[in-house]
Amino acid sequence: MKSKYADLKLNQDLNKIKEAAMYIKEGKIVLFPTETVYGIGANALDEKAVNKIFEAKGRASDNPLIVHIASIDMLNNLVKEIGKIEEKLINNFWPGPLTIIFNRKECVPNNVTAGLETVGIRMPSNKIAKKLIEFANLPIAAPSANISGKPSGTKIEDIIDELDGKVDYILDNGMVDIGVESTVVRVIENKVHILRPGKITVEDIERLGLEVVIEKQIMEECNPNERVMSPGMKYRHYAPNTKCILVYSEDENKMIEEINKQIENIGNVLVLGKTSHLDKYNTNNKLDMGESLEDISKNIFTLLRKVDSYNIKLVVIEGVKKEGLGLAIMNRLIRACEHNYIEI
Ligand code: TXA
Ligand code: MG
Repeated sequence: MKSKYADLKLNQDLNKIKEAAMYIKEGKIVLFPTETVYGIGANALDEKAVNKIFEAKGRASDNPLIVHIASIDMLNNLVKEIGKIEEKLINNFWPGPLTIIFNRKECVPNNVTAGLETVGIRMPSNKIAKKLIEFANLPIAAPSANISGKPSGTKIEDIIDELDGKVDYILDNGMVDIGVESTVVRVIENKVHILRPGKITVEDIERLGLEVVIEKQIMEECNPNERVMSPGMKYRHYAPNTKCILVYSEDENKMIEEINKQIENIGNVLVLGKTSHLDKYNTNNKLDMGESLEDISKNIFTLLRKVDSYNIKLVVIEGVKKEGLGLAIMNRLIRACEHNYIEI
């Protein structure tokens, strides 16, 4: 272990979190847990420290970072104004897995926002994340913990090889709760635009009486010259080296039949399916995604990281209904499959 490491899985030793907070104050970078995925954090007001994150991840400099806060005072220091709708979202969903895009103040460095006039902010609910921000007494800019393009880290074992030695401190809290990154929204003309779906769902937001617009790039391929609302939409993300196809039908039997057809045609196939479907597939290569949407959301990034270790021609992944948390799962899976998608 080349990075400093603290195991907080059983005992959340406050001294270790304080030590990591000192690292943040000193301009170093810390890998820390949130409720969604692990993040690589730096003092959001220190341009040099933030640069270290881009280096560690190999991240494109035109892809902005999310700033993590622990109080509304911190928010007021970073943004120009908080609209009525944003206030409603904050009151209902913070702390939690929702990132809101605001117009930023001058104090937010250019590299955090990739030169945009806006900044994405969220208040995480994970206790260690909260304490880290409070002890540092600084907003923490943090993208997901992974090398750019790879699935986000949901447990340290999955990312230690790619990030050990590239970050200064690792706070290990075991497996995260949610497993997919936060919902990213921006309010435009009183409508809540979903730039990235997550655990806070379209339905959750509509239930507040708000109008929601789902950006079409969430499920469709971006044209490289197209203007996108969120730079992250443009990049190759989550895709293993092995070719993957996503298959979905509202009729479960049809979906299973189509997947078995793929197995028959290609032969050397790995299936990622729901627990209750696995024994219906005519192959020995199967990975269990779990049964509920919550299970699948927790498991998908770990599973996507495993598939290249199988020596196979094709990975076939079961889709889910694009509703509730299902929309976030499908958004990640369709990108992992680089838009190879069969819907019957
Ligand atoms: O759950 C999460 O959000 C995790 C944890 C660590 O908090 N973080 C995360 O960060 O997923 P990252 O950097 O992997 O993804 C941030 C996404 C990118 O797609 C980026 O383009 C978008 O948010 N984003 C950030 N700032 C933005 C802005 N000002 N306008 C539009 N999109 C923005
Ligand atoms: Mg990411």
